[in-house]
Amino acid sequence: MEDKKSSFVTFAERFFRLGGGFLVQEDNPYFVATDALEARSDEWPGGYLSMAHYDYLGLLNHPDCKTAAKDAIDQHGTGAGASRLVGGERLVHREFERDMADFLGVGGVLTMISGYLTNISVIGLLMHNKDLVIVDELAHNSIMVGVQGVKADVATYQHNDLDELDRLLSEKRGQYNRVMICTEGLFSMDGDITDLPKLLEIKERHDAWLLLDEAHSYGVLGPTGRGLCEHFGIEPDRIELSIGTLSKSFASAGGFVAGNAKVIDWMRYGIAGFIYSVGLQPATVASSHQALKILRAEPDRVTRLRRNSKLFLRKAREAGLNTGTAIGEAVVPVLFDSPLECVQVAKALMDQGIYAPPVIQIGIPKDLPRIRFFLSASHSEEDIDRVIQAVVQASGGSHAVRNRLSAE
Ligand SMILES: Cc1ncc(COP(=O)(O)O)c(C=O)c1O
Repeated sequence: MEDKKSSFVTFAERFFRLGGGFLVQEDNPYFVATDALEARSDEWPGGYLSMAHYDYLGLLNHPDCKTAAKDAIDQHGTGAGASRLVGGERLVHREFERDMADFLGVGGVLTMISGYLTNISVIGLLMHNKDLVIVDELAHNSIMVGVQGVKADVATYQHNDLDELDRLLSEKRGQYNRVMICTEGLFSMDGDITDLPKLLEIKERHDAWLLLDEAHSYGVLGPTGRGLCEHFGIEPDRIELSIGTLSKSFASAGGFVAGNAKVIDWMRYGIAGFIYSVGLQPATVASSHQALKILRAEPDRVTRLRRNSKLFLRKAREAGLNTGTAIGEAVVPVLFDSPLECVQVAKALMDQGIYAPPVIQIGIPKDLPRIRFFLSASHSEEDIDRVIQAVVQASGGSHAVRNRLSAE
C-alpha cells in the first residue's frame, strides 16, 4: 500500500520536473502574495507594483463594489444555496443579467460559476455527432477542453489566419450538419484581436455559427468597453454567442453567456454548467453589478486603460522589446528567446518590487516564452516608465540590440 502511494508521488514529481519544475525551485516567481495592485506586505517590505492582475478598470478595491458585496451578504447570506433551477431565483442574479444584456445590446445573459465552466458547458450543449467545431489554434484552454469533450469533429486554423478558416470551411462545410467557429475577442496571451468584419463575412457565407470569447475584451475594447463589436462598429446580434467573465473588468468571479433571448431562455433549462452547478454567490454578482454600473457611469476608465495600454506598447517597442502582435489594449506580452531568460527577467523585476510572473510552457506555444503585462486604468505613466526600464535593464539590453539587428 505504502509503495503504491509513494510511486504515485514519484509520478507527480517526475512530471513536474519534466514540465520545467526546476525553473521555480529557487526564488519561485509564482504564488507570491500580492494582495492589491500596489501595496506593502511582509513579503514586499518595499512595496510592489502589480502588472499581473487583470483589474483592467481599477475596480477590484472600489469602495462601492465592496459595499455592494457586503450588503448582498447581509441580505442573502454567503452562498446561493443551490443551482438556480432547483433552488429558486434571487433577484440579484436576474437584475444583473438584465443590465448586462442591456449594456451589451443582446437579448439575454446567463451567468455561471466561472468563465471556464461557461465555455465548456456552452460548447457541450451545442455540438454533437456530425457537427464540426473550428477553433483558432491559440484559443483559451477552456475552449480547447470544451471542444475535446464533445463528439463533434474538430479542426483548428492558424492564429487569426482567416484565409485558412475560409479554406477549411469551403472544404468541409458540406460534410457536417452544424459548424461552429470558436475564437477570442482580445487574445489573452498575445493581446491581439481578430478581424471581426472579415470573420463574420466568412461565417455568414458558409452558414456557420460563431462563439466569441470576450473574457478580456468586455470593459476594454470599444469606446465604452462593449467589446469587439463596438470596436468594429458591428451589431452584436450578428454573433450567435459571446462569452464573458466577471473575473476581469467586472472585478469578482463568474462567467456568462450572452445572445438572443430565446437561446438564453433555452439554456436556462438545458446547459449543464448552469443546471448542475450552484448559482453564483450573491456577493459576487452584486459586486460585479456595481462594477458594471461604474463602467457605464465612468467610461473614462476605459479611456484611461486604453491610454496606458497604448503608452506601454509604444514605449516597449521604442525600447526594442518584442511585443509580438499586441495592439495595445490591456494585455501586452514581452517575448523572450528562452524560458530561462524569461524567468530571470521576471525574478529581476520582483527584486525591484514589480510583479509580473513569467509565462512558460503553460497556455502558450512552448517556443514563445513571455512575461504578460496587464495594464489597468489605475496605473500611472511613472509606473509604465519604471516597468519598461526594469525589463530593458534586466534583459541586459539584449532585446533592443537583437530586435534592431533583425529589423535592419
Ligand atoms: C479567454 C478566456 N476565457 C475564459 C477564461 C476563464 O475565465 P474565468 O476566470 O472566469 O474562469 C479566461 C481566464 O483567464 C480567459 O482568459
